[in-house]
Amino acid sequence: MSHIDISEVVRTLEDGILTVRMNRPEKKNALSHAMYRALATALREADQDEAVRVVLLCGVPGAFTTGNDLSDFLKNPLLGEESPVLSFLYALADLQKPLFAAIEGLAVGVGVTLLLHCDYVCAGASSTLQMPFVNLGLVPEAASTLLLPRMLGHLRASELLLFGEPFSAKAAQEAGLVTTVCADDQVMATTLAKARQLAAQPAAAVRQTKALLKASTAGEVRETLRREAEIFVQRLASPEANEALTAFAQRRAPDFSRFH
Ligand code: COA
Repeated sequence: MSHIDISEVVRTLEDGILTVRMNRPEKKNALSHAMYRALATALREADQDEAVRVVLLCGVPGAFTTGNDLSDFLKNPLLGEESPVLSFLYALADLQKPLFAAIEGLAVGVGVTLLLHCDYVCAGASSTLQMPFVNLGLVPEAASTLLLPRMLGHLRASELLLFGEPFSAKAAQEAGLVTTVCADDQVMATTLAKARQLAAQPAAAVRQTKALLKASTAGEVRETLRREAEIFVQRLASPEANEALTAFAQRRAPDFSRFH
């Protein structure tokens, strides 16, 4: 069985594995509002569909996703409680079934923070990850300000979030953001093999184990998501963010020296 809702998010269900492919290669899989909506729906429906035992999120060769479409931030920022971004982030945090990610290439912004909600992540050896929220005058999301320091400790989380520099798949694995690193052309095959293995496990025991693993942080994750989103909206209206986003659109380096 397979469904296609919008061409930029393609769902395919096979052998209990729902593959959700982000498919906007010309923009390196930058996420539009419509894509966030489709991704949120895909996750919510996956939990309702008995035929789905594992959800596998992937991109295209070269780009998992470069995060939020930055032109939307300038032109049309939909960021309230009902925003497509936030509804995707809540769906991600609420998902009861196991979530896998297959990274072939760039993973930027939410392309990295969403990994904190995954149960298995495979990245190609030449993949590059980056969380440039501060670089854009923004703050991190997806409860990364809660989950990253818990995983890495304050100093390593600060390094990744404050400097916002790119890091390798190997560094991501050492940090615990990625389960396994393999040859670039083996990412989908490796991830699908693990997905099939988990799909063959007893589904209710898998779901309950995932719930138990997340029980101690679930409430705090939701609260942090909400708080981060509140501050994110304020930051988006700041002169710093305006300078960063305008600089990206104009393909120049931002200059933050006049802001305090
Ligand atoms: N939002 C909007 N457009 C984006 C995008 C994003 N997040 N990421 C890539 N694109 C667009 C580029 O503007 C470009 O469009 P164009 O061909 O119409 O000019 C196209 O996708 C290809 O990207 P390009 O920048 O040419 O690729 P690159 O390999 O030289 O650089 C990146 C890749 C990821 C380093 C660079 O695109 C980038 O910095 N993107 C922004 C990432 C980001 O800050 N995400 C938000 C985090 S909150």
